[in-house]
Amino acid sequence: MIPFNRPSFHGNERSYMEQAIGNGSISGNGEFTKMAEATLSQLHGGATALLTTNCTHALEMSARLLDLQPGDEVIVPSYTFVSTASAFMWNGARPVFADSRPDTLNIDPEDVARLITPRTRAICIVHYAGVGADPVAFERLAAEHGLVLIEDNAHGLGGSVDGRTLGTFGALSTLSFHETKNITCGEGGALIINDPALVDRAEILREKGTNRARFLRGQVDKYTWADIGSSWVMSDMLAAILVGQLERFDDIQVERMRLWQRYRVELAEWAERVGATLPQVPDEAAHTAHMFHLRFASLHVRDAFIAHMREHSVMTVFHYQALHESPVGMSLHEGHACPVASEASQTLVRLPLFIDLSDADQATVIAAATSFTGP
Ligand SMILES: Cc1ncc(COP(=O)(O)O)c(C=O)c1O
Repeated sequence: MIPFNRPSFHGNERSYMEQAIGNGSISGNGEFTKMAEATLSQLHGGATALLTTNCTHALEMSARLLDLQPGDEVIVPSYTFVSTASAFMWNGARPVFADSRPDTLNIDPEDVARLITPRTRAICIVHYAGVGADPVAFERLAAEHGLVLIEDNAHGLGGSVDGRTLGTFGALSTLSFHETKNITCGEGGALIINDPALVDRAEILREKGTNRARFLRGQVDKYTWADIGSSWVMSDMLAAILVGQLERFDDIQVERMRLWQRYRVELAEWAERVGATLPQVPDEAAHTAHMFHLRFASLHVRDAFIAHMREHSVMTVFHYQALHESPVGMSLHEGHACPVASEASQTLVRLPLFIDLSDADQATVIAAATSFTGP
């Protein structure tokens, strides 16, 4: 079976792990954490980067930094991973689900504008598949209504819109280094802080609510409990893997883009014939080749395609369930229609895309796909 995803470690990941062990300390804030944070900062134009245990926790940190109160609302896409919504609920805020644009499946700024109320505090956008989600429009909308913009950039490290880096538009943005992401350390994430006013408190929240980060820098002579935080620091062992991956980030992206383009070119004619839609990338967006997805006319056709690919020993997977249709989402949702999110959750499927996918295996995937003529 050709898997959907397989993480690849072809750089210094193993030797850096040895080095981390040799350093005698593999908890957080070590040498590799500093290196990874410096690289991520550089990739975000000098913003502060804090490694976290995962992207979900970076989103939870964002929610804590906003001091959300019960009754506050945060507008999020319906078509996203649960964490984009659930992170904002710990303080009693309510996620409000917006629909997506039909071309990119990114959260639709026009729908968001309709959902803003006096209770809205923030908008959290997701750059789906690493294609920028109208960040300039959202920047404008947030400024007009005095809202905080957060970018859940789990898919979009290295992407841009009109030359501006994804993850630098909002006051805060978050990254994921889960095994399924372009670069990975198994489980991991980062909070990127573009608003300098939030940096000190973010450091405190990540360190269980203490000012330990200032203590480690020698800025205070003892550290103390200063806020209500949690334990969101990444182990230096995982940071060591991440540094190895970040060193190869450009090469990884070039290879992923090559695979992505091959799918785009070699599936185009077949897709048109069977009425499947390939990913659409607006001209202004430089995407990250995070995933290659197809959309079919119905759930029935999509599921028949997945079964057909399995018969040809190729693993393909669907993606998000529209959150407004999930059990928790339904308990929160006030009936606003999100037809694009509903449709995508039923019709979208993702093809294998990882840098160790050989040309021969990709040819097998393409041959299997193009032999599908319908249910
Ligand atoms: C858009 C989005 N946000 C957040 C997450 C959660 O990431 P993590 O597993 O690092 O917590 C995911 C996971 O795939 C995701 O797709």
